Amino acid sequence: MENILKQEAVSMPRIGENAPSFKAITTQGIINFPGDYKGSWVILFSHPADFTPVCTSEFMTFAHLESKFEKANCKLVGLSVDGLYSHIAWLRTIKEKIEYNGMKDIEVKFPLIEDITMEVAKKYGMIQPGESNTKAVRAVFFVDTKGIIRAIIYYPLSLGRNFDELYRALIAMQAADAFSIATPADWQPGNDVIIPTAGSCGVAKERMELKGDLKCYDWFFCTKKISKEDIENTILKK
Ligand code: BEZ
Repeated sequence: MENILKQEAVSMPRIGENAPSFKAITTQGIINFPGDYKGSWVILFSHPADFTPVCTSEFMTFAHLESKFEKANCKLVGLSVDGLYSHIAWLRTIKEKIEYNGMKDIEVKFPLIEDITMEVAKKYGMIQPGESNTKAVRAVFFVDTKGIIRAIIYYPLSLGRNFDELYRALIAMQAADAFSIATPADWQPGNDVIIPTAGSCGVAKERMELKGDLKCYDWFFCTKKISKEDIENTILKK
């Protein structure tokens, strides 16, 4: 009982809620999150520590893909519980010395938050003591243009993230908003999308009788085509 009372309360943000706000020092100056990012999507991600190999591979990949995410109106913000000077030294080393997977001379231009006090990491449930008391796990928060958390993915320390999946999830959520659809398993732009399930017996009947661009596997499971071009023209900046 005493142990339970002594345990620190750890908050875990949830999908559909406002992203917890904070002010932080970063490698690009002070940021107020999520207020500074209104109107953009943001991927807020944590990593365990500077000067570690998996994190280095991830940072180089994020920086390499930053313009691709930017085209989808998405900014990147990183965090670890290391200090600012460690962050600066690590990012300089990456640029000056590391050549990896065809990437070299990589400059990380997005902000990397210093969080020695773990204030932000604790707010976002990035410290998961079963994995580590001293390092943040690899958390990914997708925050939309209104500051609402739309998706959360957690990875353990040993597992580098899949960037194709992060980008796919971002585009799928933006497509769901823009076209009022849902996306099926393994969806990629250009694949059929799912239209909202019939909400009445009449609509269910109509769906089964309709021809044209709807394809119904049953009354509750109908898809339609949206071309890759339509998705990209709607979502991506010119
Ligand atoms: C890494 O980034 O390589 C790493 C960091 C913490 C624990 C294990 C691996």
